[in-house]
Amino acid sequence: MCRIRRAKCQSGRPFPTPLALVAPTAACCSASIMTDLIWVEGSWQAASWACDDRALHYGDGLFETIRLNAQGEAPLWAFHRQRLQQGLTALHFPAGSLDTIEQAWQALPLAARQPGAGKLLVSRGSGPRGYAMPSAPELRLLWQSFTPPSWAYQRFPQGFVADLGQVALSRQPLLAGFKHLNRLEQVLARQSMPDHCQELVLCDTSGQVVEGCMSNLVVCWQGHWLTPPLTQAGVNGVVRRWLLQEQLVSVADITPEMLLTAESVFFCNTLNGIIAVHRLADRVFHHKDGQHHIDYLQQRLEALFC
Ligand SMILES: Cc1ncc(COP(=O)(O)O)c(C=O)c1O
Repeated sequence: MCRIRRAKCQSGRPFPTPLALVAPTAACCSASIMTDLIWVEGSWQAASWACDDRALHYGDGLFETIRLNAQGEAPLWAFHRQRLQQGLTALHFPAGSLDTIEQAWQALPLAARQPGAGKLLVSRGSGPRGYAMPSAPELRLLWQSFTPPSWAYQRFPQGFVADLGQVALSRQPLLAGFKHLNRLEQVLARQSMPDHCQELVLCDTSGQVVEGCMSNLVVCWQGHWLTPPLTQAGVNGVVRRWLLQEQLVSVADITPEMLLTAESVFFCNTLNGIIAVHRLADRVFHHKDGQHHIDYLQQRLEALFC
């Protein structure tokens, strides 16, 4: 098995011990990426990622981007867990995979949570050449913690400027909703995003509005707060499902025409929170009531992280 990388700090120096790995010094690391830990044989270690890992070859896995509170807890963990469960089932991961993830999540050292956010990558593990399943797949996890950005409304008090994206999302019910590792549509869409925009609205190949490039979308249309169904395409975000659970939004088909005649529009995701759209293509949104409601939703979300 070849090794592609060792866990390193920004300067390129390998961390000498697992403890140093989760607590890099200021002199060693200045940027926001803090740690890489890999779950191997029942514990988090400063191991390296195997070259024959199926995540690398086929995108055979899942990921979650998780925002944590000051105590290192993930207030939306139940929603992350639910999406992982859906993805593991859809990709036919071995029974017990979610228990392993849960065990690893509980065992994650506090120091690796304290930067405030992280990406949990779940791979089916190593396998021989070819698409066929390995006879005894062994789940492999990567935790990469980082300092989250401040909530988007703090960075963009006026709201986001967005455009209508030109990349159409494929309709594929087998993969819709969960966060699998194949994100090439988002990579293409992100490349096409103009510099003055912070988000894009993406439609699927049938022309239905689905979501943003990196967040979910909610539209206030004729007084109703609506989010598109994600049964054919899109990522069913943790913030979106929290809003649905709290009955603050409901699901309805949204056409591009509805979007452009909507009273208000906002995007939501784990890192940005809930952020109003100030301008979408040529349309500027001035709806004060809508803005107040969006502020209220953001306050409710933020309260979960206090
Ligand atoms: C394509 C896409 N849709 C939606 C979301 C929102 O998901 P979440 O609320 O879980 O961050 C994301 C987040 O990364 C995303 O990349």
